[in-house]
Amino acid sequence: MKIDAIARPPVPAPLRPLSTALDRCLATPPAKVRAHPLAAPLAAAGGRAAWYADIGIALGAAGVRGWGGARVFDLGCGDGEFLQAIAEQGADVVGIEKASAPPSPLEDEITILKGDLSALTVSAPADVFISRNTLKRGFIRPLDGTPARFSLGRSPQATLQAIAANVKSGGLFCIYNVSPSDPALAKEAHADGHCPYTQGELEAAGFIVLAHDRDATTLTVDCARQLANPSLASGVYALVTICIRR
Ligand SMILES: C[S@@+](CC[C@H](N)C(=O)[O-])C[C@H]1O[C@@H](n2cnc3c(N)ncnc32)[C@H](O)[C@@H]1O
Repeated sequence: MKIDAIARPPVPAPLRPLSTALDRCLATPPAKVRAHPLAAPLAAAGGRAAWYADIGIALGAAGVRGWGGARVFDLGCGDGEFLQAIAEQGADVVGIEKASAPPSPLEDEITILKGDLSALTVSAPADVFISRNTLKRGFIRPLDGTPARFSLGRSPQATLQAIAANVKSGGLFCIYNVSPSDPALAKEAHADGHCPYTQGELEAAGFIVLAHDRDATTLTVDCARQLANPSLASGVYALVTICIRR
């Protein structure tokens, strides 16, 4: 038997390099957020787009080189200001938003599907599927059994399958949640910003979990201070989950 014929285990996913890069950026965020390739256009756009600077930096640590050419989906995109900012950098964007319609100037430039995951019937899957402050455990799967504030209209497993079906193989799924840290609010559902899904549930849906509920508070607060976003600059904690689609 030739040595090459011996079955070898598959090469493991590059967990270490990502972990190292993400660890570094979570512990020591960039001193110049405005100069970071993924945060700069968001900082320049200002408003709610700038609130996404932290997620841009975390995605940079996960290997996203820039917004240009990336197909990016945002579940619970709100007014779409973030999508507008990265579309101007050449990203191909799709927002999914149940409640609000985007203001009319944005409508011609970016796609926002009104509705929940059922509205996501686009043909090409995403390179990067993000959800910021929407897929929170406290919003959709409260631990204390109180009714969910946001309904996804399906089981957690079906939700993850629908998301996984819309992410390219090798693409990223990122949940980034910023929540109030005030202990007086600890019982409020929105204060629970953990990932609503266990690592096992994410894996069962076809994801390799690169980071699960990692503390991103320093990154968020640092970005907010540098970009003068007072509502995120204190009294908050942030958690990030990043997965790669098999
Ligand atoms: C707290 S806001 C976050 C908005 C934005 N991502 C941000 O970080 O500023 C949550 C958003 O998710 C939307 N949402 C709630 N349930 C949804 C669903 N099932 N499908 C799509 N969007 C949903 C809400 O309407 C709201 O705009």
